[in-house]
Amino acid sequence: MTGSEALLRRHDTHVMRTYGPPKAAFVRGQGTRLFDAEGGSWLDFLCGLAVTSLGHAHPSVTEAVAQQAATLVHTSNLYVTEPAVILAEHLARLTGWSDARTFFAQCGATANEAAIKLARRHGKAQHPDKTRLVTLDGSFHGRTLATLEATGQPAKHDAFAPLAGFVDTVAHDDAEAVRDAVGPATCGVLLEVVQGEGGVRPLSPEVLQAAREACDEHGAVLIIDEVQTGVGRTGPWFAYQDTDVTPDVVTLAKALANGLPIGACVARGPAAEALGPGDHATTFGGNPVTCAAANAVIEVIESDRLLTTAGARSERLVAGLNDLVASSPLATGVRGRGLLLGLELAGDVAAEVEAGCRDRRLLVNAVAPDVLRLAPPLTVSRAEIDEALAVVGEVLADAA
Ligand SMILES: Cc1ncc(COP(=O)(O)O)c(C=O)c1O
Repeated sequence: MTGSEALLRRHDTHVMRTYGPPKAAFVRGQGTRLFDAEGGSWLDFLCGLAVTSLGHAHPSVTEAVAQQAATLVHTSNLYVTEPAVILAEHLARLTGWSDARTFFAQCGATANEAAIKLARRHGKAQHPDKTRLVTLDGSFHGRTLATLEATGQPAKHDAFAPLAGFVDTVAHDDAEAVRDAVGPATCGVLLEVVQGEGGVRPLSPEVLQAAREACDEHGAVLIIDEVQTGVGRTGPWFAYQDTDVTPDVVTLAKALANGLPIGACVARGPAAEALGPGDHATTFGGNPVTCAAANAVIEVIESDRLLTTAGARSERLVAGLNDLVASSPLATGVRGRGLLLGLELAGDVAAEVEAGCRDRRLLVNAVAPDVLRLAPPLTVSRAEIDEALAVVGEVLADAA
């Protein structure tokens, strides 16, 4: 038995089977590469689901974590530590919201949970019945009970019904439906600018505009879930910055600390004041180590001008994927933004293409039955893009 097989077997003995059978085991990462116990090198075009955007083991993040871990790891939110304050200041600067306030959580779901509670509190201050949330079909907002209900994928609900019944889910491509769904009882609208888990599906400007206008009309907060799209993944710092719409609340997680668990709910204006002392809390929120990692991420993206580099890499990857569309009958289109891309396939073959890529040690994933997701780090090199494209091309040729 190889070292990887032994690890997979031990995993299967005592770790809960919530994720389906794991597909590989890794012991080390460096840049765009992961390494297995046998020393095999894998090209990581998934980044741990859009998380390790600076690549694995980025020296600045490693240094920040090591230094902070040797200095102060935890105090609770009864006290203040500087890394969290610096991070909140960074987020105010990057959103451009001088009145921004951040609540720190541990992941995407807990960032969204905070945003939903914020919307409730803001709504109930206007009217006791202003508690409903509007979300879109195909969305993904997390797996806690509230964020699961907000997730517009009913198949994920069934095993946990009954849910609380406070969410109205409408079509993701119908501006009128969004307008109609938002009313006096709505406290918030929650949406992604590009639905990540929903298949790398950008929303139309009309839907975003309708959500903004309906929120303004009814005193509801517009929450944009940037858990997957944020921190440069789709081009700008936050995907909404490429649209004409400014949310009241933005939620972040995934890439914010390049792999350390963190979530953030950033609000502006009256929404920033909606939650008061005692309304919401979490023991690990604002942890100095994870915040120090996030500060390092932001500083590296700025000092290395990674948003610009990633834009150029995105163009190269999109051009290469379009070449595959031109040359392979199995590839039918390319969608997404920046380095959050989906290769559309002719039929439900994405799992097969994912497996073929994995056999060749390229990590991508079937985000929908007919869509392959590619999300390499913002630091990906031209040569790595060409290597990945060659692998996907080979797999498509084999599958055809
Ligand atoms: C847009 C979006 N929101 C929320 C989440 C949930 O994040 P987490 O898994 O960190 O709870 C995800 C995870 O994929 C996501 O893509």
